Amino acid sequence: MTSADEQGALRAPTGTHDVLWPASWRFQTMVANFASLVERAGYGLLQSPTFEYAWVFRRGAGEGTDVVAKEMYEFADRDGRHLALRPEGTASVVRAYLQHHPALPWKAWYATPLFRHERPQAGRYRQHHQVGAEVLGAADADLDVEVIWLADRFLSGLGLERYTLKIGSMGDGNCRPAYVDELRRFLVERRDSLCDEHRSRVETSPLRVLDCKQPACRATTAGAPRLLDRLCEECAAHFARVLDGLGALSIAPEVDDRLVRGFDYYTRTTFEFASAAIDAAQNALGGGGRYDDLVATLGGDPTPGVGFGIGIERVLLACDAEGVFPAAPGALDAFVVDVTGGEAARDLVAELRGGGLGADRAYDGRSMKAQMKLADRSGAAVALIVGREELAAGTVTLRPLRAPGEQRPVGRHDVVSAVRSVVAGPS
Ligand code: HAM
Repeated sequence: MTSADEQGALRAPTGTHDVLWPASWRFQTMVANFASLVERAGYGLLQSPTFEYAWVFRRGAGEGTDVVAKEMYEFADRDGRHLALRPEGTASVVRAYLQHHPALPWKAWYATPLFRHERPQAGRYRQHHQVGAEVLGAADADLDVEVIWLADRFLSGLGLERYTLKIGSMGDGNCRPAYVDELRRFLVERRDSLCDEHRSRVETSPLRVLDCKQPACRATTAGAPRLLDRLCEECAAHFARVLDGLGALSIAPEVDDRLVRGFDYYTRTTFEFASAAIDAAQNALGGGGRYDDLVATLGGDPTPGVGFGIGIERVLLACDAEGVFPAAPGALDAFVVDVTGGEAARDLVAELRGGGLGADRAYDGRSMKAQMKLADRSGAAVALIVGREELAAGTVTLRPLRAPGEQRPVGRHDVVSAVRSVVAGPS
């Protein structure tokens, strides 16, 4: 059934966006930057399907999490299989590991669209994109440091400066259950002073109350027991080593004992990068942490893991707010203007492109004025003009478009080298 809203509506579904050039150039370049950064640290690209059996996320990310319980796009396909559009990347990576058993430690990166049925607003969409990196098969705290460094390096490499890093520890199966019981008792005794939502959910998800932004919950949890004070010896030592490692790399995170991220799989380290330059409600640029139990939760042998995901759209908003990472000028070096029938343009662009240059032309035999307008708009460095006189003389007129300079005739056979030397600039 379609609503009146959808019928004949020539627009992308609510909460989704087309990305046209040059915005798409920034998107694509961001992914390329991420790839070159993480590949230099030993991570290989994992491409996996955009949809999975829904149980992968139900069991992996957690049945009771908002992302799974309230936001996941689930459907039965034509064979009656129960599928879900990927709402987050980590459970998919673990599913792929369990299917293929690559050698450990396995370092994988991805760039993927993700789907969450959220209330759309600036920085919060129903389809967003993340670049992420995950390592399976090593419990070493140095890996927590490595992934945080990679995320930090990615953001700073774009020119971003106004962001913060928060870090916490969720403990593990040894120390967390006792802490959660203690927290639950503390909160249940103060139930009446919690916000409406958490008054009813405090028994089932006491940790979520710590993350609540409502003043009532904030005030109530101010004196709550802190998980960082209840970590077992191993978790405390792990956390200390992570902080130490970050310090050695001059990364100074803020330790946050309320850092409860939205998935059930986290153990030990959790972290989140937030921008100080964009709207406070949607300012998380990326986050991640350790998930040492997730492989076993999905049915494999116990295998530790750690990783992060960074929201591309959010990072672009932060770049806009900080005035960094602008769209680059186009990839065109030359635009051919041909008023002699088009054959010269056809041959010239083929020659220029074959010589490794960016070249485009006008079509449909348009007027000189119209073609020059297209040349100006194209962002090309030069226009190459072929009129009757040039054709007769075996030349092309080269007119600089981006930098000052006189137009001049160039021999037909010297065009590629002439454009190349304009593009290279004065030596
Ligand atoms: P997440 O915190 O849910 O983590 O998402 C990571 C980032 O994706 C967020 O910080 C934000 O920048 C962006 N993001 C999330 N939802 C939206 C949305 N609706 N619209 C726009 N951007 C959004 C994860 O997904 C984990 N899988 C990260 C991870 C990897 N943990 C361990 N490994």
